[in-house]
Amino acid sequence: MKKKPSHSSSTSRSKGSDIWQKDKDHVIHPYTDFSTFQTEGSHVISSASGCYVTDIEGNRYLDAIAGLWCANIGHSHKEMADAISTQIEKMQYYNPFGHTTNEPAAELAEKLAILAPGNLNHVYFTCGGSTANDSAIRIIHYYNNLRGKPNKKKIISRVNAYHGSTYIAATLTGIEATKYSFDAVGQDWISYVSAADMYRRPAGSDGLSEHQYSQYLCDELEEHIIQNGSENIAAFIAEPIMGAGGVLVAPEGYHAMVANVCKKYDILVVADEVVTAFGRLGEWITSEKVFGYVPDVLVLAKGINSGYIPLGAAIFSQDIYKVISQPQIEDGLFSMGFTYTGHAVACAAALKNLEILDAENILQNVRDLGPYLQSHAKQLEDLSIVGDVRGQGFMLGIDLVSDKVSKEPLMLAHRVYQICLAKGVIVRPVGNIVVISPPLIMTRDQIKELVRVLRESISQAAVELT
Ligand SMILES: Cc1ncc(COP(=O)(O)O)c(C=O)c1O
Repeated sequence: MKKKPSHSSSTSRSKGSDIWQKDKDHVIHPYTDFSTFQTEGSHVISSASGCYVTDIEGNRYLDAIAGLWCANIGHSHKEMADAISTQIEKMQYYNPFGHTTNEPAAELAEKLAILAPGNLNHVYFTCGGSTANDSAIRIIHYYNNLRGKPNKKKIISRVNAYHGSTYIAATLTGIEATKYSFDAVGQDWISYVSAADMYRRPAGSDGLSEHQYSQYLCDELEEHIIQNGSENIAAFIAEPIMGAGGVLVAPEGYHAMVANVCKKYDILVVADEVVTAFGRLGEWITSEKVFGYVPDVLVLAKGINSGYIPLGAAIFSQDIYKVISQPQIEDGLFSMGFTYTGHAVACAAALKNLEILDAENILQNVRDLGPYLQSHAKQLEDLSIVGDVRGQGFMLGIDLVSDKVSKEPLMLAHRVYQICLAKGVIVRPVGNIVVISPPLIMTRDQIKELVRVLRESISQAAVELT
């Protein structure tokens, strides 16, 4: 499937303003479409509150993507602003290297260890999701070196996975369209198995029940392990629900079955919960509670502090910690870390985020309204170009097709995004998929409004095709 990665340009709403010009002249944006950026520049978003953002021209939008899967508690929360400013007044930063720490980092690590499943109880803080995945792999390699298995280095990822944008995280990513003209590192030790895609299944798996399909995918993984030699494979990485790759919800039992296969071959399981954790599926952490497996490494970011300050974390099991924390050769150090590892303000924001999620009963809101969002949006399947509407909790993907039988992807999500924008709603276009990931405080009325605008916009985009 050929997907164009999402991009942020294509609105002329801020065109001509001073900020628009400075941005166009000097900023290199993530995932920019340079074919349109040179003329259209960027949409300048200048303020935000709750589920809404406002652009520099004063146009207000319902933010149906929570910034970028992250503003779980909503935008510009007053208590969060106070917590951040209190921490800055007390101490904005001090270095975490060696044996120095700060209060919020230690407090947060303990809280995350309690929330994490199994015996995952040691937290390595990073600056976001990519650096958390990158660090997870680097530490897994270190772990295998220390336990006398230096050849056990290969990582298995999945087609259409998204794991970030550092060199390693970009290579773990299995979305073809993110790779044009970029190099990759680690290509000789990172490989991919099929995505757990219920809508477009591999040939030969169409008639299978969900459980049989999970078994089919497990068999493929096991074959892949045998071909590469389990003695060479360190880890398998997967998002519980694939996000940017198309909101792919795995068939029943898949994750637990896959984890069992990995365990059989002494392969670590890394759960990339950058999107799914902190309430998006109605649970703090989903791997065990929702999907029935306990990973060896848990990767978090985004919702960890609702995106108020950059922060990520990789949480390791006691078993891994026991190995990596053994004293090395004389004067040998655990020589990795970032200036901003365990940043006091980011961690203080995460502590406040946990408090707000709890105090405002936000996970319950997702449990109550997630099924409504899913069932209400599912009705969009009656539109001629909607092939599949899928998701769970507050994650939703609308798959546009040119033909419902062949399921040929229709690269119209960006046009749908433009029409939605003109109607005051922000959605996220990823090739043929319209992705929705609202703030977790979204109300029933806002969901109704969102789906109404989606219906009108997709219908208009379909009419424009004829
Ligand atoms: C599942 C997943 N992992 C990792 C990342 C990368 O996180 P970041 O952009 O904070 O580096 C993302 C970002 O969207 C993601 O969705």
